[in-house]
Amino acid sequence: MPRFTLAYYIAPACGEPHQRERKAAMPYTVNTLAEAPSEKPAQGEEVPIIDIADFLAKRPGALEKAGDAMRHAQENVGFYVLTGHGLDQGLVDAAFEQTALFHGQPLEKKLALKANADNVGYMPVRGSVTRATPVAGVKPQPNLVEAFFLKRDLEADHPDVIAQKRFRPMNQWPNPNELPDFRPTMVAYMAAIEHLAKSLLPIYATALGLQPNWFDEAFSEPQYVLRCSHYPPHEPGPGQFGIAPHTDSSFLTMLPQSGLPGLSLLTQSGKWIEPPVIAESFVVNSGEMMKRWTNERFLATPHRAINTTPGADRYAIPFFFDCSIDWLMECIPTCTTSDNPPKYSPTSYAEYMTWFYDQNYAHAKKQKG
Ligand SMILES: [Fe+2]
Repeated sequence: MPRFTLAYYIAPACGEPHQRERKAAMPYTVNTLAEAPSEKPAQGEEVPIIDIADFLAKRPGALEKAGDAMRHAQENVGFYVLTGHGLDQGLVDAAFEQTALFHGQPLEKKLALKANADNVGYMPVRGSVTRATPVAGVKPQPNLVEAFFLKRDLEADHPDVIAQKRFRPMNQWPNPNELPDFRPTMVAYMAAIEHLAKSLLPIYATALGLQPNWFDEAFSEPQYVLRCSHYPPHEPGPGQFGIAPHTDSSFLTMLPQSGLPGLSLLTQSGKWIEPPVIAESFVVNSGEMMKRWTNERFLATPHRAINTTPGADRYAIPFFFDCSIDWLMECIPTCTTSDNPPKYSPTSYAEYMTWFYDQNYAHAKKQKG
């Protein structure tokens, strides 16, 4: 296979070109989508950085310290930048590379793997509209992004596959003779990032005043989605985005960082800001599942992405992480009091995502009839 030579990748959930050669710490981004800050941002007006190296090394007090930082991030911003995570950057780079190779195929090859009712497979540019969790005042328009969706790689003889259980399908894969490294790379990447996401659960539990193992049973076999996205060069029209302002559905979204701006998030005060760009880090945010489960104690923060670099192809590989498919998410005990009763009825991943997919993905809705 020829060596991969693309100059730029992209990341954010919403898209950020990634310059492979750039290995040194990258500078903070220039705020291209928001007012450049003229003084030190107020609390909640900047994205915090959480380094978990001490926690992973099991150093005394590190869990509590990380829990405090997490509580601050989740209650005030809904986003943070994760460093010291230990995930192999070579694997992240390989996943970006395979994503670019996939989208470099002719359109008909990609359309042969068109996303199905479980939203596994390929979705062309303008194939989605952000309807389920929009931001008030933004008229939904088709998103200027193409994506290839993967889930946990279940085999044909898995009971859920045989039963055709929704959200538990087999993946669709490109021809291994043409893209031989795609499947093994993506399966390895998903396994590594699932491991990392599970390792964060004691920190979230501690942040919520729960025992560190409180989430273990709920995440015995997490649901997850890897979205391999490509934002082609484009000139967005009025109200058009790579991904329009929205909140995620997920418990967590983990996005490997890259080198150029593109993602911005809406602070509690109503200002669009960008996360600091730090090499080999992840931008992590929480979505609607986290917000519901914590009775709105933890935020699901609106964000958006625009390909702002003329002529650049942008790639992003966000990983959406959720609890086991049928686990009932009831209001977490430390998130409710007699004065603050649960705002949402208990729900499961399967129940919530049925609604979410039907809202956002026409191909999923149609095929389920
Ligand atoms: Fe998102």
